[in-house]
Amino acid sequence: MKKLGLIGFPLGHSFSKKYYLEKFKKENITDINYDLYSIEHIHEFEKIFNDKDFYGVNVTIPHKISVLPYLHELSPEAKAIQAVNCIQIKHNSKGSYLKGYNTDVFGFMESLKPLLEQQHNKALILGNGGAAKAVEYGLKELHIEYKFVSRVKKENNLTYDEVTPNILEEYSIIINCSPVGTFPNIENSPDIPYQHITPKHLLYDLVYNPEETEFLKKGKHQGAKIKNGLEMLELQAEKNWEIWNSISDH
Ligand SMILES: NC(=O)c1ccc[n+]([C@@H]2O[C@H](COP(=O)([O-])OP(=O)(O)OC[C@H]3O[C@@H](n4cnc5c(N)ncnc54)[C@H](OP(=O)(O)O)[C@@H]3O)[C@@H](O)[C@H]2O)c1
Repeated sequence: MKKLGLIGFPLGHSFSKKYYLEKFKKENITDINYDLYSIEHIHEFEKIFNDKDFYGVNVTIPHKISVLPYLHELSPEAKAIQAVNCIQIKHNSKGSYLKGYNTDVFGFMESLKPLLEQQHNKALILGNGGAAKAVEYGLKELHIEYKFVSRVKKENNLTYDEVTPNILEEYSIIINCSPVGTFPNIENSPDIPYQHITPKHLLYDLVYNPEETEFLKKGKHQGAKIKNGLEMLELQAEKNWEIWNSISDH
């Protein structure tokens, strides 16, 4: 049996396991298993990648960065972001060869592209974590100018109280890369002046549970175009599958 899986800690509900097991069933794939590997310390990963049955893993919090020293190669976007969520594992006579990718970038870009209209050329990125870095890379690739909005004042960042009506007029894409509004805290939304959102705006929420967050509801109420993070998640899952099953030189 070939093995795939998700490493992280703690691992509770997993979109990935459900997604791949359903995919295997639908596509009649019976020789691969996808499971959750709850590892608190990253050195426990060695046991997994040295197991010759493993040919790929997903990586989640807290190991997206701490796994980097174990990797032999990084894709360009993983190198730029310095965080991976997908690893291809090849086994050769010298041992295991690990290549890291960040497929959040692909998922984000491909789900954003069809929504873009002429006026959508500047974006606000709400939050400053790993997901925000993947979004930043994607926006650069799409030649969309951006500014980070953070709770803390830093060089080149806006704070939430600096998001004025003028800023909202200039930045017509707003991307929530913070966990604000995620179940069970569904009544919360990022602290921006929603009354200045217009039908020219595009509000994109990386959060997908609930399907329509308070952030998206408020945007929709103002006539903005809205999008949640589910398609991004599904697109990155399919990209992982493609990567794991691609031929490499190692
Ligand atoms: N749809 C997808 O495919 C996908 C992929 C990846 C992640 N996500 C989702 O994206 C979200 C962010 O992920 P992440 O890994 O980047 O998370 P993270 O590192 O935990 O947090 C991201 C940033 O959000 C801001 N933040 C955190 N708590 C906040 C609060 N209470 N109020 C306001 N801002 C807050 C912080 O920025 P400041 O301190 O600068 O304010 C933080 O750096 C999560 O909900 C995750 O599930 C979705």
